[in-house]
Amino acid sequence: MKKVFSLLLVLVTLYILTIFYLNDKFPVRKIDYKNTNVENLNFPKDFLWGTATAAYQVEGNARNSNWTLWENAKDQNGKPRIKNNQKSGIGPDHWNKYPEDIKLLNELGVNAYRMNFSWSKICPKEGVYDEEVLKHYDKVIDELLKNNIQIHITLFWWEEPLWFYKKGAFEKEKNIKYFLDFVKKIYGRYGDRVIYWSTINEPNVYSSFGYVEGAFPPGKKDMKLSAAVTLNLLKSHVLAYNLIKSMPHGNTSKVGIVLSVTFFEPMNKYNLIDWIVASFYNNNMYGNILQFFKSGRYKYIAPLVVNLKYEDKNAPNTLDYIGVNYYSHLSAGINFSNFKNYPILYSNVEGEVPSVGGFGSVYPEGLYTAIKIVSDLKKPIIITENGIYDSTGKLVKDFIKKSMYSLSEAIKDGYDVKGYHYWALMDNFEWAQGYDVRMGLYHVDYTTKKRTLKDGAKEYQRIVKKFNK
Ligand code: FCB
Repeated sequence: MKKVFSLLLVLVTLYILTIFYLNDKFPVRKIDYKNTNVENLNFPKDFLWGTATAAYQVEGNARNSNWTLWENAKDQNGKPRIKNNQKSGIGPDHWNKYPEDIKLLNELGVNAYRMNFSWSKICPKEGVYDEEVLKHYDKVIDELLKNNIQIHITLFWWEEPLWFYKKGAFEKEKNIKYFLDFVKKIYGRYGDRVIYWSTINEPNVYSSFGYVEGAFPPGKKDMKLSAAVTLNLLKSHVLAYNLIKSMPHGNTSKVGIVLSVTFFEPMNKYNLIDWIVASFYNNNMYGNILQFFKSGRYKYIAPLVVNLKYEDKNAPNTLDYIGVNYYSHLSAGINFSNFKNYPILYSNVEGEVPSVGGFGSVYPEGLYTAIKIVSDLKKPIIITENGIYDSTGKLVKDFIKKSMYSLSEAIKDGYDVKGYHYWALMDNFEWAQGYDVRMGLYHVDYTTKKRTLKDGAKEYQRIVKKFNK
């Protein structure tokens, strides 16, 4: 009896010590805004001040791609895949209005712009490249350069030609060659004018939304396949990096990847199981990718479901910078109320203001945490996206103010952040959420196509103009 009691005592003490340790090592970053001067900002002279858009979300007139298929598809219950059955249509019509939009960049005072080229417009059929489309992007690039805007291209931003999709896209390793063909074509054409090249946008989101959640095409729910897709994207990155570096201008270009760093907190910080669940998500969403670029080892482990291991010792040498997309954090834990069907779950962090129309709470402080997380790689950092799901426009000003403060604090503390891109330049088609989520600095009237700088967004303009002289 005494022995059992002593053992119990040891276990309880160990449990308490572990919980104390975890809470001390991974505190949720909080700022006492009442006693903090968020105007106390400092940024380096050569900082890249930017904003971002993605072709499928802003150009309009999407061509046969995985997403055009998805816009017209229904789920198992006959419900449309995109919220309210919306279609991307013409949207903001950035394809035609790019000269006007570049003027908006000037109006904001930024010196950088992150964008991509539509793969399905450029390459509508296997091996066929549309010269007219390539010429269009020539004009966009030249116009940006004429306006002294540094360009940041992302090669794969989720939209893929239908023929590639039908071949099984990144589910199959042998399909990587098609992506590399595209990279060769694109880099060969624009590599002389563009410095920053991100290979893949958020491999972790593409594979989890498309292959676990089922909310993005192809709408599968297969964790094993999702892990394989992530790995193929990472292999694609390594090959694309090496390819670019072997081409003319490759030495002077900077090549990286863009990672979504939505980190998870334990739902109940005194519950060890919640800590384990949060760490499972953190690992399989971005931790294992960071590990790949740190050590060359990639591991995706979900007990009884996935056990994927891979090593490429060269991987740590294939990043000139790491791109970070940060929006919010989430909490994760064990689901006692519906354990049988859905044993683990995640949701907004309790007690924080929820964002409007999207997921996650309003947590600008987390930008610092996201920077700290990726700094483990010891590579230069570029914030490739940061913004807020807010269809009302009311949360934007405060969010920008506080985000800028977190960014400035991170730089002050020695983190090597080279630039920042606000998502997005203008309202756009937010993938499965459609047009209801308005995340642009500029409001778009979808009937007249008129762009209007939102009141809250003027805060970004003010800060950029102060520091980008
Ligand atoms: C990111 C995507 C970007 C945009 C924002 C809100 O995950 O990279 O295209 O949709 O979310």
